[in-house]
Amino acid sequence: MNIVVGVTGGIAAYKAVQLVRLLVKDGHDVHVVPTDDALRFVGAPTWEAISRHPVTTSVHDDVARVRHVALGQEADLVVIAPATANTIAKMAAGLAGDLLGTTLLATRAPVLIAPAMHTEMWQHPATQANVATLRQRGVRLIGPDSGQLTGDDSGPGRMSEPEAIHAEVTRAMVAGRDLAGVRIAISAGGTREPIDPVRYIGNRSSGRQGVAVALAAADRGAAVTLVAAHIDEGVLGQVSAHPGIRIERAGTAAELGERMDALAHEADVVIMTAAVADYRVASVSDHKLAKEDGAPVLELVENDDILAGLAAARRPGQLIVGFAAEMPTADESVVERGIRKRRRKGADLLAVNEVGWQAGFERPDNTVSIIGADDTVIATATGSKREVADALLDAVRDARGRA
Ligand code: CTP
Repeated sequence: MNIVVGVTGGIAAYKAVQLVRLLVKDGHDVHVVPTDDALRFVGAPTWEAISRHPVTTSVHDDVARVRHVALGQEADLVVIAPATANTIAKMAAGLAGDLLGTTLLATRAPVLIAPAMHTEMWQHPATQANVATLRQRGVRLIGPDSGQLTGDDSGPGRMSEPEAIHAEVTRAMVAGRDLAGVRIAISAGGTREPIDPVRYIGNRSSGRQGVAVALAAADRGAAVTLVAAHIDEGVLGQVSAHPGIRIERAGTAAELGERMDALAHEADVVIMTAAVADYRVASVSDHKLAKEDGAPVLELVENDDILAGLAAARRPGQLIVGFAAEMPTADESVVERGIRKRRRKGADLLAVNEVGWQAGFERPDNTVSIIGADDTVIATATGSKREVADALLDAVRDARGRA
């Protein structure tokens, strides 16, 4: 495998020497990309000797090979150890002022970071916001550990040991493209059921969770078609340029159902994250309703259950996955409700999360329990929608392995 090890300017840079040594020993092709600051801690000759590749910090060296993008494009994985607060901030902002910055922008490979800094810097809201941004984009964190820092202080901020980073990198490489070649159809966002030409019945779904599943699946090698109902401004932009994702639009539940049914003929996995309206207006007015017409009485008719239909028509080996947003009731927990819903719909997996006025919608973080075909909770995940997406895809991968 082709691995880029980014080294930034912290005292823990000396520990990254051991990480590079372990990766080279495993037979990987390792390119070290230090920042200028990192070279004040460990010099280029050391990195060149242990990685057996030339080392530079500048985008102006090896221009003929367009090295500033080639390293990122060719990488199977990028790991930054140590990742300083400054580098984390630069990554969050997408700055590309040196070779490490351009490499990070040019790569589509998984990126792992091992932060190292003083506790105050780690806990600073700016650092935490930057880390949240990176996690949302799929960057994975290793550590930081809690322990002795440079000087007399101790607390969270210590870089994980090189052996632990090496183990995480190895795990990420195995899992890296575990969905390669798998065709996945994903629905996302909220449907809008028209009342008249300018009004509709909608819901609060932002589409974030579905978009996160699409991104994670594509990053893991799947060929993804995303059927997008109404999705918040900016959220769809995160996936529109991804080469592994094709986007189709759907407005109403009926349109979404039609698209998903068509895609299911080809798909190995179908994931319904869309918030599908259960009802539509029986007779849509073709002129804009006016107050002088009097208060309208809307008759609603039930929409087809798309997920249940997909599950009933499931091809052998095909996996059908649903999502459910639930509130606990007096006599049933969220998970119990999810178990009943999975059975009712016939899905292979159902990810259930708790919603309320405050929880679940329009927020970057989420907690879900994933219910399997045997009515047990096979996994729970809390974190960014991307982390929840990856946990769901782990369950998809495992269920496909059993099929
Ligand atoms: N779903 C669907 N078609 C519908 C309604 C829902 O395919 N007409 C899918 C959603 O995409 C989701 C799952 O079913 O994957 C659960 O959605 P939810 O709205 O919780 O299901 P409902 O059947 O509407 O359940 P409830 O009665 O609790 O609203």
